[in-house]
Amino acid sequence: MPPGEPSPPVSGAHVAPIQPALLDDPIAFLSAEHARQTVLLGHLERVARDPQGRAARDLAAVLLVWLTEEMPLHVADEERSLYPRLAAHDEQGVLERLREEHRRDHRLIADLVSGLRRIAEGHAPMAGFPEIAREFAAGHRRHLAIEESVLAPLARRCLGPEAMAALGAEMAARRDGRRV
Ligand SMILES: [Fe+2]
Ligand SMILES: [Fe+2]
Repeated sequence: MPPGEPSPPVSGAHVAPIQPALLDDPIAFLSAEHARQTVLLGHLERVARDPQGRAARDLAAVLLVWLTEEMPLHVADEERSLYPRLAAHDEQGVLERLREEHRRDHRLIADLVSGLRRIAEGHAPMAGFPEIAREFAAGHRRHLAIEESVLAPLARRCLGPEAMAALGAEMAARRDGRRV
């Protein structure tokens, strides 16, 4: 391929967003987003292994959309819409742990985004990028495991049809750009 020509898209790099129709069941929607996040964490680890490899630029662009546009919506769904509805049922104190993990992720994401922007532009990331990427991937995988094994079953047990409908409506409004 001649120098300066954009590389062809990496097959499998694109991970389609979850369909809003799934918001009829907002817990299934969040679980589908978690499954998608697991795939994206694999992409991040691939970039961390070889930040200037052939696939890294395309993967970095996909990861930037996730971390800067989609992840803030997902965290808002959880912190502003889901967790408050479960607070009265949280006997294990899991919500505070999950909030603290969101704060940790937020700090790591700021550094990841700087590195990914450099990679997406064809430059080497700053020193320490692979370690930050691996720390984020490992921590976020544990976070997803708790949300799936503890939080989703708690929500299914505790939220009735009205609460589920209100949760889904708030998540849909957030994706329409309305302030929730
Ligand atoms: Fe989540
Ligand atoms: Fe979360």
